Amino acid sequence: MLLTVGGSAHAAPQNDTVARGHALAILGDCEGCHESPTHAPFAGGQGFTAAYGTVYSSNISSDPTYGIGRWTADDFYRAMKHGVRADGGHLYPAFPYSYFTHMRRADSDALYAYMRTVKPVHTPAPKNDLIFPFSIRTMMVFWNMLFLHDAEWQPDPAKSAQWNRGSYIVNGLCHCGACHTPKNILFGDSGAPFSGGVQQGWFAANLTGTKPDGLGEWTAAEVAQYLKTGVTDHATAVGPMQEVVAKSTSRMSDADRAAIATYLKSLAPQKLQTFTPPSQDTMEAGRAVFVAHCMICHRSDRREENGGYPLLPRNTIVQGRDPSTVIQVILNGSQSIALSDKQTSSYSMPSFATLSDAEVASAATYIRNSWGNRGSTVTPETVKKLRHPNDDRGRR
Ligand code: HEC
Ligand code: HEC
Ligand code: HEC
Repeated sequence: MLLTVGGSAHAAPQNDTVARGHALAILGDCEGCHESPTHAPFAGGQGFTAAYGTVYSSNISSDPTYGIGRWTADDFYRAMKHGVRADGGHLYPAFPYSYFTHMRRADSDALYAYMRTVKPVHTPAPKNDLIFPFSIRTMMVFWNMLFLHDAEWQPDPAKSAQWNRGSYIVNGLCHCGACHTPKNILFGDSGAPFSGGVQQGWFAANLTGTKPDGLGEWTAAEVAQYLKTGVTDHATAVGPMQEVVAKSTSRMSDADRAAIATYLKSLAPQKLQTFTPPSQDTMEAGRAVFVAHCMICHRSDRREENGGYPLLPRNTIVQGRDPSTVIQVILNGSQSIALSDKQTSSYSMPSFATLSDAEVASAATYIRNSWGNRGSTVTPETVKKLRHPNDDRGRR
């Protein structure tokens, strides 16, 4: 099974350790962030931009000059555990080492064995472009003091082996909290774990047992199905979650997806949203937009009658505490994920960027409050901010 998974460009795993390392690389989505913009595996060069500038993912192919071909297993473990490069330079937290730190040494070694088998790519990744003082890597010593908790992950003997497996991978290699846990201005975790966070203008859903957003109404089997296919009656993967599903969760083993689901379903409800019903006027304006532009596809609350299009009633993304993802989908449209070359049917939603801020806001409010849905009112100002994300970024 493992031998047939994934990339054409890497050498086929030769032994058990390498095969295990390959599976771990899928859990960690190493390829998702380290594939180059021209799709060279592990060559790096994807930009991660924040107010402080842009950090580019490194070339981590086995090239001795531009990649990590000269690194030892100890060097590699130090990068994963402490965010420090072979040359002693501190890495930025755009590399999610504050999660990878929980990986056991044996897993780091297997991952290292796999990384040595990937094809060398002899091109340098672009240099980071950061403003002072963030341009000084040593600054990350302070970040680590605040946000790096590098204690070895410990199993909870009171819980099942499956729950412990889920806890180990969700909090470690899978770094689900990198998007789903709220962040402070320095990108450190702050707030209830997995209660939902905004990343690059998208709201990564609340994954705790909350209702109506969150996974309160999902069964563990539905969570596992979502991770495999990106589709359930509760939500369809859109935005950054599409890449996570395509490159990582759809390629994991069924056992790992079931373990993740068991762990997530054990998380106690967090952060119930405060809610005031929208005004009658907003609902009527929103309904007019919906009937004119949306109902042709989102026509029913029953899957059989909806022709494969996402169901908006009881949808946990639509009812999210933060409406950013709903607004992004309306402004940008969305294309369903292709999980294999053989896939024949694909669905798409066009962009509605030509609608005014007020129209997008009222349509979003309407779907968040129809058919029994419940979600805060969306204002035109919120839509405007997501349409022009750089307006308030000042310096850059
Ligand atoms: C969310 C995106 C992301 C994911 C996922 C990710 N990385 Fe990275 N990685 C980065 C970025 C960005 C850098 C560069 C950070 C810097 O310049 O300080 C980096 C740097 C590194 C480095 C340091 C190399 C060097 O010489 O600079 C190593 C090693 C590494 N990653 C390995 C991995 C492995 C192995 C995985 C999978 C388990 C992985 N990364 C997953 C974003 C990511
Ligand atoms: C790069 C950011 C990112 C990472 C990493 C990430 N997610 Fe997500 N996830 C999102 C976003 C954004 C959404 C909301 C959009 C959507 O529902 O498709 C989402 C939605 C979801 C949903 C649907 C929840 C709902 O209420 O609709 C589940 C389940 C989920 N993620 C699980 C996971 C798990 C498990 C992991 C770790 C293996 C993970 N995610 C890692 C960004 C991310
Ligand atoms: C041509 C058909 C079509 C039209 C018209 C359309 N949509 Fe969609 N919509 C889709 C498809 C297909 C998806 C899922 C895309 C994917 O899988 O990435 C989707 C996804 C969504 C989602 C995300 C649901 C989820 O679970 O992630 C929302 C919210 C949404 N649409 C709202 C709207 C609104 C509001 C309008 C009108 C302004 C609209 N749609 C018009 C086809 C359509």
